[in-house]
Amino acid sequence: MSYFMGLDISTTSAKALIMDDAGKVIAVKGSPQPISQPKPLWSEQNPQDWWDGMVVAIKGAIAEAGISGSDIAALGLTGQMHGLVMLGADGQVLRPSILWNDQRTQAQCDAMTEAVGFERLIELTGNRALTGFTAPKILWVRDNEPDVYARCEHILLPKDYIRYELTGEYATDLAGASGTSLLDVANRQWSQTVIDALDIPASWLPKVHEGPQVTGTISARTAELTGLKAGTPVVGGGGDQAAGAVGMGCVQPDIIGLTVGTSGVVFAPLAEYAYEPEGRLHAFCHAVPGQWHFMGVMLSAAGSLQWYKDTFAPDMGFDALLQESVDVPAGSDGLYFLPYLTGERTPHPDPLARGAFVGMTTRHTRGHMTRAVLEGVAYGLKDSFTLIDRVGLPEQFEVRISGGGAKSAIWQQIICDVIGAPLANISTTEGGAYGSAILAAVGQGVYPTVQEACKAFIQTEGGTQTSADTSVYAEKYGIYQELYPTLKDVFHKLS
Ligand code: XUL
Repeated sequence: MSYFMGLDISTTSAKALIMDDAGKVIAVKGSPQPISQPKPLWSEQNPQDWWDGMVVAIKGAIAEAGISGSDIAALGLTGQMHGLVMLGADGQVLRPSILWNDQRTQAQCDAMTEAVGFERLIELTGNRALTGFTAPKILWVRDNEPDVYARCEHILLPKDYIRYELTGEYATDLAGASGTSLLDVANRQWSQTVIDALDIPASWLPKVHEGPQVTGTISARTAELTGLKAGTPVVGGGGDQAAGAVGMGCVQPDIIGLTVGTSGVVFAPLAEYAYEPEGRLHAFCHAVPGQWHFMGVMLSAAGSLQWYKDTFAPDMGFDALLQESVDVPAGSDGLYFLPYLTGERTPHPDPLARGAFVGMTTRHTRGHMTRAVLEGVAYGLKDSFTLIDRVGLPEQFEVRISGGGAKSAIWQQIICDVIGAPLANISTTEGGAYGSAILAAVGQGVYPTVQEACKAFIQTEGGTQTSADTSVYAEKYGIYQELYPTLKDVFHKLS
């Protein structure tokens, strides 16, 4: 039997997972990660902390699995996207990494959009210039820390810093590279047009690879440090969303992923490159060779419910709180909740958008407010489906749901009815770490394609069917769609 390891450097932990060649997870070990907010809007982590945590996680997972490190046949990588790591000539870290949720770069986004042109940037990179993306961060360092910029020779994404420590290679994967604003997403290579327009040295960029492609091998130094065998291949892997989609089996256009975590993500694989002309959806390369995907990201999904519970019912459990909403009719008797508590990305790319309860009267109870929060998040997720449908949803598709928010049957029913499509639960829960282990297994020929591996490893198990409330929500959704345009100016004045 051979084993595969998936490594996930998320914002909160460094995680190592081991699966066998039948796709069974036999060990998962995590090590928490500190985060720092040195100034308002800033969000940073130290790459050395990632690596120290990952060494602990790798050793812990090998011990938990009761195998030897040399039994690991290959590794895959995943992690938080968009973050900027800057390295000097001999690979030394020049400053803390600026993360995906850092918001300091609006001026640089404006400059990028001006330099490339709004339509052209979206056509080439599949996306608007967004404050969280990598390229505006590079420009921010050029504008604000010229001494750091002058010493830079390499830039990497967070998971690719782990790759660098593992193998000594400067390399990345296409799904991750899509989140930099520097990739020609249609042609799956760096965009010379964008690089020239921004005047960033092309030599800084790592080599790009498909998800299952081998990018390097474990170095002797890392073998000594971790117990892995020197020479073990490390494949491209994928950004957390693309690798997570592989871990859910969303590897063909008729299987759409819906993840209700702190943020909410709708992930729709594409057989051909397409983009939404206003750039309100992300269009990225998938971790599956030759595929792309649309993605809608809502920033506060289960995060909205967590905030609501912590603020209004800190002493109640989630189950008891949600139970109060069950007898409230669909539509919460005219009460709406806008889930833009931390600004929004899809469908309104607006860091100044704000949350709101709208339509409150004296007859509304806490049960109404709870239901309004559950419905507001569901409408926000529906917005991504609406945008994807405008560019083209397949005639028939299955929606697979995962994430903490999917555990509640009450919320799952509301989401199902608002979206108006059945939801399927899946047999796996380890997301990106599992997906990157699958990519490693495919890279070693255990299965010829990612699709075949997913078919063998991932099953759907039960789910939710639409109820009579679907038609009620279809009508109420129109009012929800009117709320952001109506309140937008007020939100901006408030900020
Ligand atoms: C994807 C995104 C997040 C981060 C952090 O576009 O911003 O998934 O990668 O998890």
